[in-house]
Amino acid sequence: MAIPAALRENLRLPVIAAPMFLVSGPQLVLETCKAGLIGTFPALNARTTEGFAAWLTEIEDGRRAHGRAAAYGVNLIVHKTNPRLEPDLAVVAERKVPLVITSLGAVPDLVKEVHGYGGLVFHDVISVRHARKAAQAGVDGLILVCAGAGGHAGTASPFALIEEVRQFFDGTLILAGALGSGRHVAAARMMGADFAYMGTRFIATRESMADQAYKDMLTASALADIVYTDSISGVNANFLRPSLIAAGLDPENLPPKKHMDMAAEAKAWRDIWSAGHGVGGIADVPAAAELAARLEAEYMAAFRDTTAQF
Ligand SMILES: Cc1cc2nc3c(=O)[nH]c(=O)nc-3n(C[C@H](O)[C@H](O)[C@H](O)COP(=O)(O)O)c2cc1C
Repeated sequence: MAIPAALRENLRLPVIAAPMFLVSGPQLVLETCKAGLIGTFPALNARTTEGFAAWLTEIEDGRRAHGRAAAYGVNLIVHKTNPRLEPDLAVVAERKVPLVITSLGAVPDLVKEVHGYGGLVFHDVISVRHARKAAQAGVDGLILVCAGAGGHAGTASPFALIEEVRQFFDGTLILAGALGSGRHVAAARMMGADFAYMGTRFIATRESMADQAYKDMLTASALADIVYTDSISGVNANFLRPSLIAAGLDPENLPPKKHMDMAAEAKAWRDIWSAGHGVGGIADVPAAAELAARLEAEYMAAFRDTTAQF
């Protein structure tokens, strides 16, 4: 169990704000890092590789100017239909991005390239089989995307997955799935995770790029409003029921699974809004700094409460 030294710097809480397609941009990343949490974004949120490089400049300049910001990361989608992988990875290497989060494929060559400049690779997994494969590819951390997560989610219990993965992996473990409060971060740590990974909670922040209508729908939703389906993206993911209905779909009668294709993803995720099971605990849209302060206070209180005798 370990938080790598490069990620400890200026870290206030063991929290990573997860990368979210069409939602996380440079402003959210920068404000998250300035508030002492790890900020991340998918490279594909910038429309071109040049735009991606410009976002990195904005984040790096902002972090430098602040002086005490936490580290940041970039998400790369390792899929044959992503034509940006190679050029974006070249920019990542040139800029020495501290943390690379890979999803879909775990590729030893990519890990080698990132390690070559001193960076870290964390990889998203939903099963023990995927975790073993990624561990063999040499990743530094495994993100256990458990039941109830926003985006492409798994179905495993976090208790079960963390237990089995820890038996063969001694790198950094990051837990994901419906985590939204400081108490949840404390619980993740107690379960043996190094970091809590939060997506949905950060959609409802002032700096996220999500539409106001998306933020409003999210804060008004609860667990029963989340639909798990492979019909929108080629991979099972969680979506807000009212957004499926608004797009003219019947949540009880969705079309059959489609093939994953990065070219079609943008349209799907623009019209249909993803969120995880944690929506019921999200009732407001704070600034990232305010959220970080709240998470810290809740985290400290959770440890105080749990050390009390019962
Ligand atoms: C709207 C949305 C978009 C997402 N896009 C991506 C993405 O582009 N790449 C990725 O690795 N994960 C993506 N995710 C998954 C998150 O990185 C993270 O695993 C997940 O949000 C954690 O669960 P939580 O939402 O319950 O906190 C997305 C999640 C959401 C809600």
